[in-house]
Amino acid sequence: MTADKIRELVAQMTLEEKAAMCSGADFWHTEAVERLGIPASMVSDGPHGLRKQDEQADHLGVNESIKAVCFPAGCGTAASFNRELLVKMGEALGNECQAEGVSVILGPAVNIKRSPLCGRNFEYYSEDPLVASEMAGALIHGIQSKNVGTSIKHFLANNQETRRMSSDSRVDERTLNEIYLAAFEGAVKKEKPWTVMCSYNKINGTYAAQNHLYLTETLREKWGFDGYVMSDWGAVNNRVEDLKAGLDLEMPGSNGVNDKLIVGAVLSGELDESIVDEAVEHILNIVFRYEENRDDKAVFDRDKDHEAARKVAEETIVLLKNEGVLPLSDKQKVAFIGKYAKTPRYQGGGSSHINSHKVTSALDATAGMDNVTYAQGFDDKEDKTDEKLFTEAVEAARNADVAVIFAGLPDKFESEGFDRSHMAMPSCQNELIEQIAKVQPNTVVVLHNGSPIEMPWIDKVKGVVETYLGGQAVGGAVCDILFGKVNPSAKLPETFPLRLEDNPSYLSYIGEGDVVEYREGIFVGYRYYDKKKMDVLFPFGYGLSYTTFAYSNLTVDKEQMKDTDILRVTVDVTNTGNVAGKEVVQLYVADKESTVIRPVKELRDFAKVELLPGETKTVTFMLDRRAFAYYSVRIHDWHVETGEFDIMIGKSSRDIVLTKTVTVESTVKLPFVYTTDTTLGDVKKDPRAWALAQELFKGGIFGEPPQSESEAANEAISEEMNEAMEGFLPLRGPISFTGKVTMADVQALVDKLNALEE
Ligand code: BGC
Repeated sequence: MTADKIRELVAQMTLEEKAAMCSGADFWHTEAVERLGIPASMVSDGPHGLRKQDEQADHLGVNESIKAVCFPAGCGTAASFNRELLVKMGEALGNECQAEGVSVILGPAVNIKRSPLCGRNFEYYSEDPLVASEMAGALIHGIQSKNVGTSIKHFLANNQETRRMSSDSRVDERTLNEIYLAAFEGAVKKEKPWTVMCSYNKINGTYAAQNHLYLTETLREKWGFDGYVMSDWGAVNNRVEDLKAGLDLEMPGSNGVNDKLIVGAVLSGELDESIVDEAVEHILNIVFRYEENRDDKAVFDRDKDHEAARKVAEETIVLLKNEGVLPLSDKQKVAFIGKYAKTPRYQGGGSSHINSHKVTSALDATAGMDNVTYAQGFDDKEDKTDEKLFTEAVEAARNADVAVIFAGLPDKFESEGFDRSHMAMPSCQNELIEQIAKVQPNTVVVLHNGSPIEMPWIDKVKGVVETYLGGQAVGGAVCDILFGKVNPSAKLPETFPLRLEDNPSYLSYIGEGDVVEYREGIFVGYRYYDKKKMDVLFPFGYGLSYTTFAYSNLTVDKEQMKDTDILRVTVDVTNTGNVAGKEVVQLYVADKESTVIRPVKELRDFAKVELLPGETKTVTFMLDRRAFAYYSVRIHDWHVETGEFDIMIGKSSRDIVLTKTVTVESTVKLPFVYTTDTTLGDVKKDPRAWALAQELFKGGIFGEPPQSESEAANEAISEEMNEAMEGFLPLRGPISFTGKVTMADVQALVDKLNALEE
C-alpha cells in the first residue's frame, strides 16, 4: 500500500482506534480494525527458529510453542563469518514465517558481548560491532527476501541480564557510537529491518523506550530507518513520553490502560495527534507490506529445514586445538563420553527457546558405526561426580584409541534473565576430562556452551572442538567434522580470555544497583587485550582447519589517498594442504599515529573463501572512510586524521600475515577553539598561529635569556625539559614570567587566533 493510501486510512481512524493500534491486541498480535479492513498481524520469537505460540503465551520460553526447527544460536552463526550462509538461514526462517502467518520474527539480537558473563551471550553475535552488524544484516536480508519482517534487538546498550528492566547503562558518546550503536548501524542502514525492538534498560539516565536521541534522531533521522519501533515485552513505562520519543508499538499491550493515556494526552493538548498518526502509519506500513506479499504456497518443511540447520551448524563449529588427533578414522575405536553425546545442549533458555521437532545427537549420527562406544560420564542436573558413571567413562576411554568427551555448560548455567557469576564449567566435568586425559593420550573435548569458558585442562588434551549452541542438528554436523567429512572453517567472533578477571569490563560489570558504568570505554574484547598485549586462551578471529592456507600479493590501489576515496585492497589466498577448505580472511586497520586514544587495530572487513587443494583465489575489499575513522566527540561525527594507516591481513587478530601502509589525507579540519588556557604546544601546531604568538612574546616566554655561564650550562642540559615546559605552558603563562604582557594582550591574541579558524 502506498504511503498516501496508508495516510488516508489513518485519517479515517478514530483517535481511540489509533491509540489502540499503538499497542498489541494480545501477546503476539497487533490490533485489527475490521471496519477499515486492517488485519491483525502476528509477531513471534526469534531469533534462530520460530517460537510461535498458539495457546498460552509468554515471553520467557515457558509455555509450549509449535514444533519448529532450532538453528544454531547467534554465538555460533557469527563464528561462521559467512554472510551467504546467514542469508540462506534467513530465507529458511522467512519461509517458515510465511507458512505460519507470522509477519515479523523477533531477531536478530546484536548486542555486544561486553563480558563473557552476559546470560544472553548465546543469542548475541560478537564482541566486535562489525561482525555483529554484518552477520545480522545477512540474516535480515534472507528473512526479508521472503517478505517477512525482522526486529533487530535489543536497542540499545543492553549488555547484561541483571536488573535488565531498570539498569542504567552509562556509556560515553564515543563508545556508544564506535561499539554499541555500530552493532546496529550497518545492518539498519544496509538492510532496512522492518522493525527495531527497543530494550528495557536506560541509557545514560533515560529509558531506551523514552530516548528520542536514539529512537528518532539516530535511528530514523541519521540512519533512515522507516519501519516501526516496538518495545521489548514490558519495556514501556511512560506511554506518552515513549510515543513522543519514537516508540511506535507497545508490546505486549496494556489491556487498554495506556490507550486511554494516549487519548487523554491528545485531548488535553499534551500530545500532538500527529505523533500518534505517525506511529500508526509506521505500524500499518509494515502490516500491509506483509499482508500484500503473503506467500500462500509456503510450506514449513521441518525435515528440510533440519538439514538446512545442519549445514549452518557445520560452519559454526570452531576447531580450537588439534595436535594430530583429528579427523578421526572409521578404523579407530572411538569412545564417545559425556551426556551431551546423547542429549546435546544445543540452545539456550528464555524467549528464544525452540520446541524442536527433532534433535540429532552425535550418537544418533554415528548409529550403526561399530567402532563407536558410549559412556555417559556425568549428569548435568547437579555439579556432583557420579562415581559409577565416572568410572565407567574412564574405563571406556582407557580401552579405546581415542576418547571424545562431549562436555559444556548445563542449561541452568546460561539463559535469558540472569548472568553467569563465573566462567567455569561444572567441576565434575572438568575432573572427568582431567582423569580421562591421564589414561587416554588421544583425548578430544567437544564443547557445548554459548559463551567463553575456562579450560584448566587445555594442555592435557589433544583436541578441542567448540560447537557453541549448535541447534537441533548439531550431532550430525559435529560428527562430520570429527570424522573429516566436513572441514571446520569457523573462527571465534570473541576472545576467550584466560580468566574472567582479564576481561576489560571485569571491574564494573553488572554495576552498583541500577548504575552500570561502561568504564572500559571503547576497549571491548580484542581492542583491550591487544592494547594491553595480554595473553589470552584463544584470540578473536581464531580457528583451525584440516588444511593450510598461504597468503600472498597484498595490494592496495593507492598508497596516498584522501579520506573521501575508496581504497581497493586485494590479497591472494592459496589452499596449501590436501583437502578442500574454507578460510576467513580478516582485514584489520591500524592508525599508526593518532592524537586520540585508539585500539591497536580494528576489524574493518572479512570474507570467507572456499578453496580446493592447490587452488588460489583473490579476495577484494573496498574500504571507505569509516574504515579509518574514529568518532569525534568534538564534532559529534566520524573523523579521519591525516597520517599513515596499516592495512593488515590476518588469519586471526593475533596472526597478522601481511601488511601494507597507506597515507590518508583528511578533507575535514576539526575546528579548534583557542582560549587563554590553550598550550603553546598546541599553538605551535599551526605555523600561522605560532607566528602571531611569537610576535607577542618576542622578549622570550620565560623572561630574559640566562646571563652567567653556569646558568647557560644548566639551560643546555635541560633543553628538552625547557621545550616541554614551554609546550605545556598555557597562553596566559608568560604573563607571570615576563611581566611584559597582560591578560588583555593574551586575550587579543586569542581573538586573532580564533579568527584564523573561521
Ligand atoms: C525478550 C525479547 C523477546 C520478547 C518476546 C523478551 O523478554 O527480551 O528478546 O523477543 O521477550 O518473547
